[in-house]
Amino acid sequence: MKDKANVAVLVSGGGTNLQAIIDAVNSGIITSAKLQIVISNNPGAYALERAKNNGIKTAVITKKECGGAEAFEAKIIETLESEDIDLIVLAGFMSILSKNFTDRFPERIINVHPSLIPSFCGEGFYGLKVHEAALAKGVKVTGATVHFVNEIPDGGKIILQKAVEIEEGDTPEILQKRVMEQAEWIILPRAVELISKEITGG
Ligand code: GAR
Repeated sequence: MKDKANVAVLVSGGGTNLQAIIDAVNSGIITSAKLQIVISNNPGAYALERAKNNGIKTAVITKKECGGAEAFEAKIIETLESEDIDLIVLAGFMSILSKNFTDRFPERIINVHPSLIPSFCGEGFYGLKVHEAALAKGVKVTGATVHFVNEIPDGGKIILQKAVEIEEGDTPEILQKRVMEQAEWIILPRAVELISKEITGG
């Protein structure tokens, strides 16, 4: 049995959730996982810089370069297998994975979503759109969820959730920042440690 789970983090953008995981490894909150590789489907993602700054291997895999969704997923799978990955973390990864992909890794893919699932989730709910929808509905409490990934967008088993208050005058941007600070950056590293510990039998 390995003493640490090999983790791949899949990203598309700024990578603040990736940063939270890196910080949790550096501060000893995560002890059961090794950040093996960061894979981005966007060559311009700042998350790639964060990985490089911390000596983590990176790969850029785009649908365009692969010539379609099937070849794109096949390339990701090939990379995950060659890196001997135990746990796949979607941290702001803005591409929906097919059933063919998710079936290969049952309870080995986790995602962070910026709402309290089952509110404001599923296809079309990503990034700022989630917070726009929460404010439009007028909910008083929102939050974030870490869940296992299956073939249903945001439909897998819930692992951790944390609530965040909505405040008078919130804009989608202000709310997004609060949800990240008060929920996502806390529960995602916690879930990485929890599942990695299970994988390593700790
Ligand atoms: C985060 O808020 C994450 O929860 C969200 O995108 C943002 C990525 O930020 N993900 C989704 O909406 C997935 N459905 P980051 O690149 O700074 O971590």
